[in-house]
Amino acid sequence: MSIGVFDSGVGGLSVHRALVEAMPTADFIYLGDHAHSPYGGRPGEEIVDLTRAACERLFAEGVDLVVLACNTASAIALRRLQQTWLPGYRKALGRPVNVLGIIVPTIEAATGQAWTYEPERRSEKVAAVDLIGVFSTASTARSRVYEIEIDKRREDIAVFSEPCPELVPMIEGDASRNELQAVVEGHVRALTARIGRTPDRAILGCTHYEIVADLFREALPPGLPLIHQPTATAASLGRYLAAHPEYAAGTSGLRRFLTTGEATEQNGLVQAFWGAPLSFERV
Ligand code: DGL
Repeated sequence: MSIGVFDSGVGGLSVHRALVEAMPTADFIYLGDHAHSPYGGRPGEEIVDLTRAACERLFAEGVDLVVLACNTASAIALRRLQQTWLPGYRKALGRPVNVLGIIVPTIEAATGQAWTYEPERRSEKVAAVDLIGVFSTASTARSRVYEIEIDKRREDIAVFSEPCPELVPMIEGDASRNELQAVVEGHVRALTARIGRTPDRAILGCTHYEIVADLFREALPPGLPLIHQPTATAASLGRYLAAHPEYAAGTSGLRRFLTTGEATEQNGLVQAFWGAPLSFERV
């Protein structure tokens, strides 16, 4: 069996890379929904429907688990699919399958607490606040998932989200480094102005942004810690597989890259990130 990795486009490659590094002999099938990218500005119900269709496609390819390597799908669709669709789908399929997201591992990394952690009591006064800036799509920012879920676990962390709606189309469209740099700098300035100071840490809360992580590093104060979502997701998947032997990651090192869009070679920006030519099969 194998692991499915899903994103609206190429952003999930950043997560795929970390998963492969952590599990080099496991089998992976990647699906980019290029026909419907970007997801970030779409109505919630469309994101739910598109994410379900992508999971069905990957399960039809034989994967046991789908990792939603997309914050937008994880924030908007995952809970709904787990509650309303997966139980019946699993029964109909007659084998164990599951869908995992990337926001839970990121929040665990940001808070230093397991997802199940519930603080015993809220203190009356917080002595110091750790400010986390989250750069994300408009849909993820509107969901306030990082603000809400981090606050439940750590009252000494405050989260400020900055939606960056131009970035996914620019990355998918092979924008120049100068154009990307100007947009990234603008968002870092906007977030800093809104907070009133620079954040203490940051999350690139859209997997596409990892492809231009160097631009975020340059625009943010030197040395500012970035919580690395791909690494957090890989560690979390390893723990999940160890605890759930009913799901198999495979052992033959399979790598397939599928797209709902055109089966063209990936653009220069993506291949520079990937470090090798990369083509997707059309499904
Ligand atoms: N990589 C997706 C994410 O993490 C991008 C969503 C989009 O297509 O706008 O949110």
